[in-house]
Formats: sequence, C-alpha cells, structure tokens
Amino acid sequence: MKTLKNYAVQSICRPVVTGLVCALLAGFLAASVAAWAQAPVPDSPEIEAKARAMVAKLSLEQKIELIGGVDSMYTHAIPAIGLPRFKMSDASVGVRTWGPTTAYAGGVALAASWDPELARRIGEGLGKDARARNVNFLLGPGVNIARSPIAGRNFEYLSEDPFLNATIVVPYIQGVQSQGVIATVKHYALNSQEYNRHNVDSEADERTMRELYLPAFEAAVKQGHVDAVMNSYNLINGIHATQNEFLNLKVLKGEWGFQGILMSDWDSTYDSVGAANNGLDLEMPSPRFMNAAGLVDAVKAGTVKEATIDDKVVRLLRTALRYGFMDRPQFDPADSTYSVADRAIALDGALESITLLKNEGGVLPLDPGKIKTIAIIGPNAWPAVTGGGGSSDALAFEPVSTLTGIANVAGPNVHVLYSRGLPEITDVLRRTHWDGGVTVATYAGKDFSGTPETATSPMFGNPGQGRRGQGGTGMPGHVIRYSASYRAVKAGKYLVLTDVGGWGTSVKVSADGKELETPPHAEGQIAPFWTLDLKEGQTVKVQADYVPGWGARFGLGIAYAPELVMGEATELAKIADAVVVAVGFTGETESEGSDRTFELPWGQDALIEAIAAANAHTIVTLTGGVGADTRGWLDKVPALLDVYYPGQEGGTAIADVIFGKHNPEGKLPVSFDRSWEEDPSYAYYYPVKGADTSLHVTEPGKPAVDYVIPHVKYDDKLMVGYRYWTTTGKYPLYPFGFGLSYTKFSFSNLQAPALAQAALLIPNGIAVGFDVTNTGSVAGAEVAQLYVSDPSAKATRPERELKGFQKVRLAPGETKHVTLNLDARAFSYWDEAKHNWTIDPGKFVIRLGDSSENTPLAAELTIK
Ligand code: BGC
Repeated sequence: MKTLKNYAVQSICRPVVTGLVCALLAGFLAASVAAWAQAPVPDSPEIEAKARAMVAKLSLEQKIELIGGVDSMYTHAIPAIGLPRFKMSDASVGVRTWGPTTAYAGGVALAASWDPELARRIGEGLGKDARARNVNFLLGPGVNIARSPIAGRNFEYLSEDPFLNATIVVPYIQGVQSQGVIATVKHYALNSQEYNRHNVDSEADERTMRELYLPAFEAAVKQGHVDAVMNSYNLINGIHATQNEFLNLKVLKGEWGFQGILMSDWDSTYDSVGAANNGLDLEMPSPRFMNAAGLVDAVKAGTVKEATIDDKVVRLLRTALRYGFMDRPQFDPADSTYSVADRAIALDGALESITLLKNEGGVLPLDPGKIKTIAIIGPNAWPAVTGGGGSSDALAFEPVSTLTGIANVAGPNVHVLYSRGLPEITDVLRRTHWDGGVTVATYAGKDFSGTPETATSPMFGNPGQGRRGQGGTGMPGHVIRYSASYRAVKAGKYLVLTDVGGWGTSVKVSADGKELETPPHAEGQIAPFWTLDLKEGQTVKVQADYVPGWGARFGLGIAYAPELVMGEATELAKIADAVVVAVGFTGETESEGSDRTFELPWGQDALIEAIAAANAHTIVTLTGGVGADTRGWLDKVPALLDVYYPGQEGGTAIADVIFGKHNPEGKLPVSFDRSWEEDPSYAYYYPVKGADTSLHVTEPGKPAVDYVIPHVKYDDKLMVGYRYWTTTGKYPLYPFGFGLSYTKFSFSNLQAPALAQAALLIPNGIAVGFDVTNTGSVAGAEVAQLYVSDPSAKATRPERELKGFQKVRLAPGETKHVTLNLDARAFSYWDEAKHNWTIDPGKFVIRLGDSSENTPLAAELTIK
C-alpha cells in the first residue's frame, strides 16, 4: 500500500537521490510525518522574518499579482521565490472540487444537532476530503444569521442565534484546520438575504451588529483561530464589505487581532484603492480592481502605501509558511477520496439533526413488525435531496434517498410503494398547449425597448437547461419577452408555473396585461408560481418578461390545479398502512443567488392534503433551510419531521428515525413561523422604497458603471427569531430550540450562585449546575438550554438570550449532572455610548429548559 511516508519519500527521492540517502530520508520522515497532516504551527519571529524576506525579493508588480486570484479557484504562484499556487474549494456541505465527494449534513442541519463535537468531526472530515483533493483553502463555513425564512442561503448558514453559531463554528474551524487546510469563515458581514445580493445595503446600528451579526465571526477569529475570512457581496451601512473600514480594519484586524487572509467573495470588489486601503488582502476570483492598473500609480502617488500591499502579501506567505504549504505536498494520500469513515460522520450528522416537530397519537416510530405496506410519495422522496443549490452544491458519491433509505431499513418483509405524486415541471411545460404557439421577442438591453428579434416556439423558454448553474437559456446582455394565449378547457383554479433558475435571473408574468404578484412579496425569489381563476372556454393572454442571469433557465406552463396531484399517489396511500410524504425545497427551488418562497413549491400543499385525506398515518418529511407555510395541511397530518438538507446519508437517517432505530434529537436552530407575514423581519426585509442611491464604479481599463443601491434597514434590530417571540409574548408555530423525542426528559436541581461580582466574571465566569433525567423508556438525547434574562437592565434587552447549552445522552431512567459556565459576555450587552460590552449590575434570571419557550427551571442572580 502507498503510505504517506512512502509517497513523501518517493516524491522527493525520485528526481534527486537514490539508495542509502533515500533510506535515511525515510527514517527522518517517519519521525516527522505526523506533523504533515497536523494543524498549522503558531506564528513566530522566524516565520515573520521568512515571510518578510520573501516579500523583499518581489517587485511591486509581483506583490500586486499576489493579491488577486487566478483560474477562478487559485492564488497566484511566484516560482522565483518558491511560492506555488494554492487551491480553494467550496465548502459548506462537502469539498466540491470538482467531482463526487462526501456530502455532510451542513449548515442549518449541523446547527440543528446542537453538537459542537459533531461540528469538529465534520470539520475534520472536510479537512481530510480537502487534503485528498489537493485543496489548501476550504471556502466555508458560512455563519450569517438566519434572520428571515425566505433568505436564500439560510440552509448554508447555521442558525438565528449568535451563541449557537459561535459554539458550532469554533470546533468546525478547528477540525478543518487540524488537517492542514485553511478554513474561510464567510460572508463577513450582514449577508442575511440573497435579494439583489451584489448591490443591497444592509443597514444596522452598531449594537445590533455586535450582539447579533458579528459574534460568530468574532468567535471564529478569537477562539477558532480561523486563518481566512471572506467578505460578503452586500454593502454595510453604505460601504461594500470589501472596502469597509469599520468591519475590516477596526473590528476584524484591529479589535479581534485577525492575522490571516481577508478575501473577497467572487466578484464582490468595487474599488482598487478603497479595497486596498480598507483591509482586503485577496481579490477573488481574479484581480479586476486590485491589479497593477489600479494600484501601481496609487502606490507611487502615495494614496496606497507600499507597506499596505506588503502586509497583504505577508499575510498570505505567513499563513502558507505556518501550514507548511511550501514544505510538503497538500495532496495527502493518507486521506481517502472516498472515505467510509466520512460516510459514517455524514450519517451521524443526519441522525443528530433531523427534528421531530409533530407526533400526534404517537404515530411515530413505526413498528416494522406491524407495517406490511408503506407508501413513499412526493417529489423529495427520490432522488435524494442532499443539499441546496449554488456554490455549496456537492455531488455526493452514493446519496441515499428517502425511498431507498426506508426500503433498506424496513427490510424485505415490508412492501414499499412509490409515487412522485406530482408531475415534473418539464412535464407540465411540455403538456401546456398554447393557442397558436409562443411569440419570443429577444431584446438587446435590459429594458425591453427597441426593435426585438422575434420568432415563434411551441413552448415558453428553454426549460430544463441550466440546472444548478450549468449554462442555460438566454444570450448574455439580452432579455426575452414571451407571449401567448391559453384557453381553459374547464372552469376552476389554474397554476401558472415557472422553471426559473440561475443566479441573478428574474421574471415578471402578466395575464391579460395585469402583472401577477406572488403573495405576499416575491421580489428576487426563485421559482415563483401564481394562481388564476378561469371560466370554461376563457382565453387568457400571458406574457413573461425574462431577464437571464448566470446559468439561467426559463420555462412557463399552466396546470389545472384539481388534476395536479397524480391519482396513483392517492390510490397507493389508500392501501398502505402508513405513508411518508417527502416534500420541501431542492437545489432548484432554494439556492444561492435568489431568495426562496415561504410557500412550499407548487402542488405540494395539495399533495399533502390529498394523501392525508387518504391515509390517517401520514408522516410529512420537510426538506429546506427551515420554515415553510404549513397552514394548508399541518392539522391534517399526525407527524412532521424537519430534515433540513441532510447530506448523502439522509435517507438512511430518516428511515432510522421513522422506524425508531434512532430516537430523534434535533432541535430547531431557527424559529418556525406560521406565515412569512408574522416573521419579525417581514416589515424590514425589502429596501426602503424611493431611497435608492447610485454608486459610480470604475474598474481599471473599463468604462465606468453606475449601480443602483437599494437600502435595507435592519430596523427589527435585536428582535430576530426567538428574541422577538419571547419579548413580545407571542408564539411562533414551533419555537427555537424545540424538537420532540420518543422519550421524555426532566430537569432538576438547578444550582447557580445568588450573587456575583461583575469584575470576577472575567475571565472565569460562574458555574451553573443541573440534572437532566430520561424519565421515559427508550434511550435518547436532550439539549439542555440556558437562557439569561436581564430584567433590571437600563438598556432595552431581548427578554432572554441563549448563553449555554449541552447535549446529554441518557439511557432510560438515567440522570446526568451537567455544569455550564456563564462568562461575563453571557450577562453583557453592547453599550453604544461606551462602545464596549457592559454588564448592568442588578438582577439576572437564568432559565433552563428544552426550548426558548419552555424553561421550567429558573434561578435568580444578582450581579454587583
Ligand atoms: C459564493 C461564495 C463561494 C464563491 C466561490 C460565491 O458566489 O457567494 O460563498 O465561496 O462563490 O464559489
């Protein structure tokens, strides 16, 4: 077998020396090989000196070359100083460079596990997968706050709570970096929506930023010692992230002491001098602004100091030296490309995250001895839905679908029936009969003006192309207007359906000249659909204005709503002992680059209702980045499992939970709303109307471009998720931290000091102890959650905030004592006047429970 040691010896020996020398070298490497796969060494005066000596050998032009990426996913090489190029790869759920990989339960699913040790194992797994693919930088994790359920990248991020995010992200980063791979925490900062993501300005006050949107980044830097940070696309308080002095220089590099590499998101840089002077170290994927044309004269004129450029290069070199990138191959054959060990981690991730939200009458777990026939129905039943869309989309080796997982776990004695339940969108499009065909008018330019090129076609658009960003319909710089007539054969409700995808794509649809609106807001959302009420024989003129984006696709069709659900599905449901309806989002309906609907994708509400009417034992599994409109069907089904995006082993984990081989233990990392309108961010999500400003951008060597900047005011401030629900006394559908189990737990014996001195809380904090007991009859895991309230605070504070938690595994009847530490930060808020964290002395309440709404134990504490 080819061992790491042999590989290393051969790769050095082959071209250089032979025989005895190689044997000596092998001996030496045997002693040092362990260090190769290990974590980076800390910075030292030697490393600093070496990095500076390398920089001293470079011309200004060479240095500038090093602060821009190349070939989309690499840093620049300068062979003259022995510097190779370094490879990057996305990220959140698997190492997708390019080809199959292990796809883990990433992002929001990982947060739903509430298990920092799992985060560490997934981080290590990703690190090993990266080494096996020669990757130096992993472009994750993403830690932005899940502020709104429609935000397109929630599934890649973690949760609505900064403490949970911080607690998960630290071991994750340590796990990745322990394998000799740089983790890149992203997207810094306030990137909590995909709506117009390149131009949108996220406006928040400093306290909101410090208390909600920055702590996970702070923990990543100060505790996780992350070595790379990625700026976001959006502007923050009027300034793009990549040139935001406050975020990059004052906070990240100043207060937090970040010594690593601050890179841009892909094409998120807007100014050469602005970026260079305000902290950006590396422009990705290519130097459009931080290049010689943009910076050489600026350095000569003194508007950018050469020392500023040197610092960026030193950061790259220092990090590379600390990781040993110049001394060892990054490709590590000790790590397998296909790893059985990583498959096991992926399974644990899915098992730990799947969250049981409803289980009326104890319908779950199903008894495989009693179930003779089970029907698996729905668009998400097969094939497996492992992750959302966009740059995190990792192609899993052998993804296990819900259908195959259930069939495997149920075993040969259970009869398994399957129906998709709804047609594929492409079937609907193909079957839509447009009277006289579709007129296609292609316009050069964005505003549908001028004389178009026209043609006719039997179909709207070029559907099915460009899935998951792989090319597609439309010509760059062109927009397309489709128009046609549709005649209703029957009276009733019709759904107007789109197949829209790709980043930066948009579509407006009108019927008889009236623009259709998806309720309640639909700007920038992926795959919207509309309803029309038509009379028998009525003809409606439909027009779609389509603006293609990158990897775009488009199709439009009409379906008669009462006939959408496939008859075979309800027939199967009738004869089965139980039904699993697998619904929710996929990479095509929830993806980077767009927001998503709060409503489930078209037809799914009707499908659940039809199946629930046919079978009383209907279990719904919901895929997605948390939250969907369940109002049409939730009271009609006895069981609901939120499976998030469970990664490649999702189907097995879902089956294990359904058949009780695994007791569900996931807890909601995001409050689950009843409706989008009741979400606290609803009123503040879209830009303030009429407040757009214009941004003049000059890319060196190109004509200037004016961008329209919409301004989103984060006036929900700290009232995000459970902070809002607990402060207002209102109740979401399912609260943050909630998740059912097949057993019961109780909390007792809460012990906390009654008095503490504020100064003494730094740095050691106080210990809070309690007991957790499994009072039921099966083994299970509970997440004990500690919330802190500050009722005597002079400042307005959320009613409670999560400041500690612990997952506890217990056998039936078993009790475990848990001690959690609350440090000074647990009691502090950001004082805007002092620009610092402050403890307001007085009364505090520590609450212990199993969700943000259910905290049966409380202890009072006075801080002097
Ligand atoms: C995404 C990043 C990603 C990068 C490289 C961007 O579009 O926003 O999260 O790391 O592409 O793929």
